Amino acid sequence: MSAGILGTGHYTPEKVLTNHDLEQMVETADEWIRTRTGIEERRIAADEVNTSDMSYHAAKQALDEADISAEQIDLILVATVTPDKPFPSVSCMIQERLGASKAAAMDVSAACSGFMYGLITAKQFIDTGAYKYVLVVGAEKLSKIVDWSDRNTCVLFGDAAGAAVVGPVTEGRGVLSFELGSDGSGGPHLYQEDHLFMNGREVFKFAVRQMPESSVNVIKKAGLSENDVDFLIPHQANIRIMEAARQRLGIPDEKMSKTVKKYGNTSSASIPVALSEEVKKGKIKEDDTIILVGFGGGLTWGAVALRWGK
Ligand code: UT7
Repeated sequence: MSAGILGTGHYTPEKVLTNHDLEQMVETADEWIRTRTGIEERRIAADEVNTSDMSYHAAKQALDEADISAEQIDLILVATVTPDKPFPSVSCMIQERLGASKAAAMDVSAACSGFMYGLITAKQFIDTGAYKYVLVVGAEKLSKIVDWSDRNTCVLFGDAAGAAVVGPVTEGRGVLSFELGSDGSGGPHLYQEDHLFMNGREVFKFAVRQMPESSVNVIKKAGLSENDVDFLIPHQANIRIMEAARQRLGIPDEKMSKTVKKYGNTSSASIPVALSEEVKKGKIKEDDTIILVGFGGGLTWGAVALRWGK
């Protein structure tokens, strides 16, 4: 047995904030945002909707898709940098709400790479046989930490949650290889004090190097070549960064997920939301080889080569 994804779910708030809406809020232009980032709109959670609410809805859908009951979950890992409050963790909040009576629960802090860190942590518990089912969620309400008067950042981010139930799958399927990394010296390029701050140019340079490199590394570690990749799900931060990874791997345009256009950058939610959407659209089929790859504040990064199916 190896560890794989048994079901996926996602939740995006109803309220849409378009580039044209932002033109009324800061000195920006739809044209600038689209050409520099690929983003056209993003979703913003209502005041009363918090990270735990979005996590709950995404988790519920993932459990349904996996056909696993909440009582069967051994561990809940929620990757987030925007928890409802410093503690209790979002994981504990959804443990109660889902009725996951036997689950351990903790949050994971690795910014936009959080879901990758959660997925790989889940894999360890499953590989050792300590746990059977781990619920991994990536969820953010970035709208509450964004400085809405800073055009350098406010046009980029959105709110969402994505989830995956991780558990044992047939040998040869599931996680084939992974890479996680960090470089704390880049911490000053992306952080939160009161608000989110980002040195976009520095993060951009890091990302266009790291995403292709990590993708190639996991492909090699899995004993595969770029031609074997059926689908690429990169962190949805900026279409130009995603394109750099896609072109380096020589993957056709239609084999890369591009939810950035409608959701913007949703940090730890971006990869599981994109994965869940592609699964529901029927774009990911049994035995497909897919690459998930992310980067973010820390700086951190993570990549996985995965063979789809139970
Ligand atoms: O998941 C977290 C990871 N974060 C990221 O992936 C972000 C990585 N970085 C980026 O995606 C890009 O660096 C940005 C989209 C943030 C910026 O794009 P860029 O092509 O690197 O633009 P720039 O920072 O070089 O700025 C170009 C110009 C500047 O004006 P000056 O100084 O040249 O006169 C900015 O002030 O664009 C200006 N600018 C804007 N103009 C209109 C910055 N933001 C805006 C805006 N609207 N929203």
